[in-house]
Amino acid sequence: MTDNVIVIGSDHAGYSLKQVLVAHLEEKGWRIVDVGTNGAASVDYPDFGAAVAHALKEGKAPRGIVVCGTGIGISIAANRHDWIRAGLCHDITSARLCRLHNDANVLALGARLIGEEVAKDCVDVFLATEFEGGRHQRRVDKLGFAESM
Ligand code: RB5
Repeated sequence: MTDNVIVIGSDHAGYSLKQVLVAHLEEKGWRIVDVGTNGAASVDYPDFGAAVAHALKEGKAPRGIVVCGTGIGISIAANRHDWIRAGLCHDITSARLCRLHNDANVLALGARLIGEEVAKDCVDVFLATEFEGGRHQRRVDKLGFAESM
């Protein structure tokens, strides 16, 4: 049973926000699979986007969170994997809509662009919102996810 598990990963620029989010999620009862990075030393965001993607493929959790300085690099990295739909969000509306319309399975955040409270709100909304299905299912199917996982 992995419904209460979330995978999280970041590069060095996202590290401190990742730690804030881990504490926030643990407080709410989530179990965390943290794929790193584990400190402020410079690392490469593609490695951590890939680590989150592979952890989802291995069934460790249904959803993940990736964080880098802008959220751009690590969302591109995660989205290179065709079972990943990572949505880069800066506010709760995009966090809600990436679940409702895109069935995003990864939330991407930019630690240098948004504050901790906004990031926590994005995470809460992302995890609480169900995919709407219907016409959106057809569009999500066209992204190729269904064939690859
Ligand atoms: C690291 O300096 C920075 O380039 C990275 O965190 C991210 O913002 C890339 O998209």
